[in-house]
Amino acid sequence: MRIVLLGGPGAGKGTQAMRLAEEFGIPHISTGAYFRDQLERETELGERIRVFMDTGSLVPDELTCEVVESRLKEPDCVRGYVLDGFPRSLPQARILDQLLAARGETLDVAIDLEVPDEEIIARLTARRTCPACGKIFNLKFDPPTSDGKRCDRTGCDGSLVTRADDTEETVRERIRIYHQTTEPIIKYYKERGLLHIVVEGALGPDEVFDKVEEVVHSLSRT
Ligand code: AP5
Repeated sequence: MRIVLLGGPGAGKGTQAMRLAEEFGIPHISTGAYFRDQLERETELGERIRVFMDTGSLVPDELTCEVVESRLKEPDCVRGYVLDGFPRSLPQARILDQLLAARGETLDVAIDLEVPDEEIIARLTARRTCPACGKIFNLKFDPPTSDGKRCDRTGCDGSLVTRADDTEETVRERIRIYHQTTEPIIKYYKERGLLHIVVEGALGPDEVFDKVEEVVHSLSRT
């Protein structure tokens, strides 16, 4: 399955992508996680993108698409993948289509996770992530069973961290950019008959996953 997860910052893309990847045995490809790793390791690319990441702006399309193109060539992508945080602009969506067409592939589905802006701010200021395994927690909505400071995933005991771009000011900027630049791709996928919308409302991560999984299972049965 080739799946795109859409949604604003904090909509739950990473949370759901990780579960989908496990359930369907396909890689979870997050451009945000890739860029954060580059920042942390202080690579040349990391230094080029730091200014964008720190301010909540988008990394330029050309750079982002190069990263995705190279990742999709890896052998684990043969059976499909979950794209989380890409595409994020109309040019990126069009380039993804071109990349797939060149490989004789098409997307199976674009799932849009819809969450109100105020809920996003509440979520992101309480998010904690495990740098060792990538598992995402929330001190209010999805806390770790341990003391709130350590990852409780089987086989992992990483110290949970707060993302540098989860300050309220940066989150508001990310939401603004989402509405301006990313939201138009919802229409793009709708016009191609690929869009499924999951309205989260008051649903927790498990209930959202039930809905997302049902969408993907129904497609894999057709
Ligand atoms: P990226 O890492 O993609 O960040 P984002 O899109 O802003 O999304 P988040 O990772 O913040 O949220 P999420 O939707 O994954 O939610 P999560 O599951 O964590 O990108 C970061 C930056 O990288 C960008 O700002 C940009 O600079 C750059 N970048 C990345 N991709 C790019 C691209 N394609 N082009 C250009 N630049 C790019 O959940 C959030 C919280 O809510 C967690 O605490 C979670 O536990 C909790 N939660 C999840 N689901 C629920 C629920 N149902 N109910 C209650 N709480 C929930």
